Amino acid sequence: MAQTWTVLKILQWTADYFDDKGIESPRRDAELLLGASLGLDRVGLYLHFDRPLEESELSAYRALIVRRAKREPLQYILGETEFWSLPFSVSPAVLIPRPDTEVLVEEALRLTGGQRILDVGTGSGAIAVALAHELVDAQVTALDISPEALAVAESNARRNGVDDRITFLQGDLAHLPEGPFDLIVSNPPYIPIADVEGLMPEVRDFEPRQALVGGLDGLNPYRALATQAGFCLTPGGWLLVEVGIDQVSDVQQLFADAGLKDVFCRDDYGGMPRVVGARSKVAD
Ligand SMILES: C[S@@+](CC[C@H](N)C(=O)[O-])C[C@H]1O[C@@H](n2cnc3c(N)ncnc32)[C@H](O)[C@@H]1O
Repeated sequence: MAQTWTVLKILQWTADYFDDKGIESPRRDAELLLGASLGLDRVGLYLHFDRPLEESELSAYRALIVRRAKREPLQYILGETEFWSLPFSVSPAVLIPRPDTEVLVEEALRLTGGQRILDVGTGSGAIAVALAHELVDAQVTALDISPEALAVAESNARRNGVDDRITFLQGDLAHLPEGPFDLIVSNPPYIPIADVEGLMPEVRDFEPRQALVGGLDGLNPYRALATQAGFCLTPGGWLLVEVGIDQVSDVQQLFADAGLKDVFCRDDYGGMPRVVGARSKVAD
């Protein structure tokens, strides 16, 4: 006799299966994928633990489990994530926004009520949309080299009701728009090329290489930003960037060498140096 799969039973089975596959949060991922298949949130699942699944529901769910077991990120499977408590659509054209990047948004809000903001390497639009959402008078320019990423960013700006204040621009960070801008923010690709193979499969095999790799030492985008910032910022305007592990002193040095002032670093909530900031010289 074929066995009956209830919500609880299939969750337990999937959590064990994902655990064997080395997935970091097996039970949570199982719940989110099953919830997506059944149109239930996690509380809804808990209220229906004894509900039997129909064959069509099982086969739809099975397809999602197979994808996750191959280490495809949960957010790409769901097509959704959250950043700054706002909803964002994500596709494999964009980096999945990370909670650590919210520290960059916090610093931007602390340092400026910025009128004209440039977000370099906007990806899903996470930073640009969050800032436009918080700063209702801001005009944001969101730059990315990838037209596919820009399409995702535009849809996220519409989704969050800030598309009228963000201009999307395809271009290379080696040639920043002139501005001037009161604030330049960037979470650029910063992983040294040799480190890519050691990344988690979710990142290494699924996230766009262009969003990850910052050249041989990971510092190329910071060099380009440092040398141009003085020309694109208003006097006293801030440049804020997210940095990777062990990059903080190199990036601080690059900013100081480029003549930027008041160089500082801010840690994330895990105690890792995460944001480097500096500002352009105030006119004498
Ligand atoms: C690390 S992702 C950051 C995405 C988003 N800002 C975030 O914080 O989630 C870096 C982004 O920079 C873009 N990028 C890579 N090289 C670039 C270049 N030379 N010029 C402009 N954008 C670039 C990538 O397409 C990607 O969207």
